[in-house]
Amino acid sequence: MSNDAITTHLKETRRFEPPEAFAAGARVPSREAYEALYRESLDDPDGFWRREASDLVFRTPWTQALEWTPPHAKWFLGATLNASESCLDRHLGTARRNKAAILWEGEHGATRTLTYAELHREVCRLANGLASLGVVAGDRVAIYMGMVPEVVVAMLACARLGAVHTVVFGGFAADALRDRIQDSQAKVVITQDGAWRRGSALGLKQTVDQALDQPEAKSVTHAIVYRHLGEAVCPVHMKRDRDVWWHELVDGQPLRREATVVDAEHPLFILYTSGSTGKPKGVLHTTAGYLVGAHVTTKYVFDLREEDVYWCTADVGWVTGHSYLVYGPLSNGATCLMYEGAPNFPDWGRYWRLIEKHGVTIFYTAPTAIRSFIRQGDEWPAKSDLSSLRLLGTVGEPINPEAWTWYHRVIGGGRCPIVDTWWQTETGSIMMTTLPGASASKPGATGLPMFGVVPAVVHSDGTQVGADEGGLLVILKPWPSMLRTVWGDDDRYKQQYWSDVPGAYFTGDGARCDAEGYHWVVGRVDDVLNVAGHRLGTAEIESALVSHPAVAEAAAVGRPDDLKGQALVVFVSTKPGYVPGPELAIALGEHVGREIGKFARPDTIRFADALPKTRSGKIMRRFLKDIAAGRETTGDTSTIEDLGVLAKLRADDG
Ligand code: PRX
Repeated sequence: MSNDAITTHLKETRRFEPPEAFAAGARVPSREAYEALYRESLDDPDGFWRREASDLVFRTPWTQALEWTPPHAKWFLGATLNASESCLDRHLGTARRNKAAILWEGEHGATRTLTYAELHREVCRLANGLASLGVVAGDRVAIYMGMVPEVVVAMLACARLGAVHTVVFGGFAADALRDRIQDSQAKVVITQDGAWRRGSALGLKQTVDQALDQPEAKSVTHAIVYRHLGEAVCPVHMKRDRDVWWHELVDGQPLRREATVVDAEHPLFILYTSGSTGKPKGVLHTTAGYLVGAHVTTKYVFDLREEDVYWCTADVGWVTGHSYLVYGPLSNGATCLMYEGAPNFPDWGRYWRLIEKHGVTIFYTAPTAIRSFIRQGDEWPAKSDLSSLRLLGTVGEPINPEAWTWYHRVIGGGRCPIVDTWWQTETGSIMMTTLPGASASKPGATGLPMFGVVPAVVHSDGTQVGADEGGLLVILKPWPSMLRTVWGDDDRYKQQYWSDVPGAYFTGDGARCDAEGYHWVVGRVDDVLNVAGHRLGTAEIESALVSHPAVAEAAAVGRPDDLKGQALVVFVSTKPGYVPGPELAIALGEHVGREIGKFARPDTIRFADALPKTRSGKIMRRFLKDIAAGRETTGDTSTIEDLGVLAKLRADDG
């Protein structure tokens, strides 16, 4: 963890109390009220979760809240349910029946509204269509789509059948999609012809074809294709016996489908994320615990009201999209704005116009986006009326205090509380934040634990560090929405999360906790990078690079970056016969783009004759990080095999 970051945060002493008017009407109106609920969640988890989850639909109530056989947890034992009933059916007999569930706007300005009743109908029709293709409970279905309402329909249709969805972000390349299909052994892929992205049509079906044409993807029997752009813009080739149009599949299907009732611990979805090895991990979330976590945090953290228009800008391909665009808000009956395109299309005023046009009241986005907006100048938000906003949120990476205060002042008009929510793909739902009416916010700090969550900052032997001291961020008790395992690799689950710090879940993050109990998360301390809010494993980048014929060895590290948080720097040594230089650098960037996705292309590629290694042959990333950041090399260099390598890299620097 960087000492600079800790020192910077230590200097930050500003605090913003909840505005009185907000606190007066808030679900949790004071720090004392929060403390009481938090204590109850630990002292009486059964009673606490039973009350807080009482508005979800359980077919059978649970008989036991938790069974903990470290490191495996089962929550809400004995309960049966179907997640789609809590998100859809439960609203149909109420005034929400004709309330907008999704307000959608396409990049080119087309709009659509789906009410809860309409969303229910579309989900049932697709679930019937999937069933007609032979999909049954427990089958995996890969979803490779853009930000259209049908992606939500697809997820909930899987849930309705008890099938396990695995959404793959539309920016991933064909090989990355193929790997995820192979690992999950998906039976069906749901995709669309293409999506708009910054004014151009991105062919998604075409990428699916490239993935499915490979033998590793042979588990797939059918691809369902939603027509979004149309033949004129994005022609697609439909493969006989495999590909089926969404509209033809659902045509004539019954408008209702009885939900398949599953056990609390039945898998709901797998979401692949980067870890410390070259292979992405399939994080497995199960039904009841995940749903309860997403539901309760959405209600409290966003202080959600019936009349809110809620906008989470995350892509549905990441966990934020799962929990805070789909399961959390829909299970609460919220109206969600969903926007298809880029924040700067056709210009940097787009988000602010969307807020004005749709009357958005709650806005949840990432620090990288905020920093990009700051760069473009205050004139863009100034052109729109943002007075509908009442609450702002941030997620995905540490937010620097300057970006926080800009967000507060320029977007929130100084009147909106900001919730800085810390969590992970693995945690399923928000783990730490400040509840908006209850506790003051401190720019750069995430805040206090959510209900049922017991964080600690520790040394690697598990002993707690003192107040304001940096250490490893761990979670000491199981919580309902925690991942249950790594799909198909339970050893990896144990090793990755439960072996670094004795008796605790290790988050991979470094943090400090101040005297008031606020957590200041500094960033990853493992081999995972956070580049513009995208989680990238250094080993994944390295294995993509060494699969190029020119590359002998590669090491990927992060460099602090004002805009992206971290930038991706790779050091590469070439095989004999290849000439390092700008041309090869471009080729390698494109190669990573093809192997993983464009978003993973390195920001800087540096060639080296050799990489610094220990005597046992391990690449010494610490030194490469220093060099990438332009810092003096710190620490002991005595274990380096060949100091000349370091000197050479430095010389190249200057
Ligand atoms: O390093 C932390 C950072 O994002 C990581 C989790 O990434 P991912 O699984 O992709 O999920 C992102 C969205 C939940 C964490 O280990 N992170 C997330 N939120 C914050 C954060 N770092 C600081 N502050 C946050 N609010």
